[in-house]
Amino acid sequence: MPNAPSSPALIDIDAVRAAALSCTKCRLAAGRTQVVWAAGNLEADLLFIGEAPGFHEDREGEPFVGAAGQLLDKLLGEIELDRTKAAIVNVIKCRPPSNRDPQEDEIEACRPYLEAQIDHMAPRVIVTLGNFATRFILESSVGITRARGHKYRRGEATVVPTFHPAAALRGGRFGGVSPIDAMRQDFRVVRGVLDEPPPETRPPVEDDAAASEQLDLF
Ligand code: URA
Repeated sequence: MPNAPSSPALIDIDAVRAAALSCTKCRLAAGRTQVVWAAGNLEADLLFIGEAPGFHEDREGEPFVGAAGQLLDKLLGEIELDRTKAAIVNVIKCRPPSNRDPQEDEIEACRPYLEAQIDHMAPRVIVTLGNFATRFILESSVGITRARGHKYRRGEATVVPTFHPAAALRGGRFGGVSPIDAMRQDFRVVRGVLDEPPPETRPPVEDDAAASEQLDLF
């Protein structure tokens, strides 16, 4: 069962950010230009989680500013959103050397920062971009090809796993689908969830139990 979010009121996000910006908890501190904390709006209803900063992000201090970020912005635009309506963060906040995969101990060292960002935001929708973010949020070893196309529940948030934009830029097919087509479908699902009335204004639904079962695939 994914961690229950703690109360947003208990999170001093500015203090957590300040701690992150001077973090030396793992080996990545030695090679970074700067810590890459977040882009967009940490008060929004929508949170995107990527993997790790790359070359451009490390230089500029902002997630998804390279080619993958441009694709993300384009897909956001197609559902009439932009970075003012979403926050964009990564599982780890420092660039791994040569853009290698994040290691388990690096993910664990960085965990409190991402957990604090999620708890502070209490987003309605979390979009996990690729394997690392999906596994972090679902607390499962599931791969993105199998996870995408389903919605999951994490506390009050609906989780929509999708491909990492870098995979879409590489092209090819995964599990018989093109990642860019799959991402477009998944972004439409995000739009649909955001367009639903917030839970507190919704009338009680008789088959709520069935609905939540469908979301709770793990
Ligand atoms: N890829 C990521 O996962 N995050 C970034 O910030 C940029 C590229």
